[in-house]
Amino acid sequence: MTVRIVRLTEKDWRLFATVRLRALTESLGENDPQFREEVTFTAARWRRRLRDHAQFAAVIGNRAVGLIGAQPQNTHTVYLYSLWLDPSARGLGLARQLVVAALDWAQRRHARTVRLRVAVDNTPARTVYESLGFSPSAESRNRRELAMTLNVN
Ligand SMILES: CC(C)(COP(=O)(O)OP(=O)(O)OC[C@H]1O[C@@H](n2cnc3c(N)ncnc32)[C@H](O)[C@@H]1OP(=O)(O)O)[C@@H](O)C(=O)NCCC(=O)NCCS
Repeated sequence: MTVRIVRLTEKDWRLFATVRLRALTESLGENDPQFREEVTFTAARWRRRLRDHAQFAAVIGNRAVGLIGAQPQNTHTVYLYSLWLDPSARGLGLARQLVVAALDWAQRRHARTVRLRVAVDNTPARTVYESLGFSPSAESRNRRELAMTLNVN
């Protein structure tokens, strides 16, 4: 099985929309407000998100099985969000590869800090982030959520 980690560009908007909506459905369900909003996005809206944020996908053949978003917050900080793998692609180390691709991108754009939020009880995600050096920061919004940061430059 050959897996590629690729940064999606505007021409990939259909692939992006498909995997993003699948991620929202699988994680939150079709009644979640986030899904209900994004399912109405036009091509222009998907393209804009691909311009504004870096989106990395894990691709097997022509099927995207995983995703992570990276959003510049300011000159020095990048925020990672929406790490997701199709259940059939879990347990293969792909989450780590997706995060590494996003970290490489943050480093290349000379960010100093990469931030993210994770549910306190999400052991697989926390294990991935901690193995890459992320540590808890003091910014958590509530007790169920952990904010984490990593210095990259
Ligand atoms: C989070 C996610 C991307 C992780 O990907 P994954 O392929 O499932 O991760 P892995 O199976 O490689 O597990 C990561 C690590 O957690 C460990 N782990 C997994 N489940 C565990 C459990 N229940 N208890 C303890 N450790 C566990 C694995 O052993 C692995 O550690 P290792 O690399 O030291 O062997 C995936 O589970 C997912 O898409 N979940 C739903 C969306 C989500 O929660 N996203 C994160 C938002 S912050």
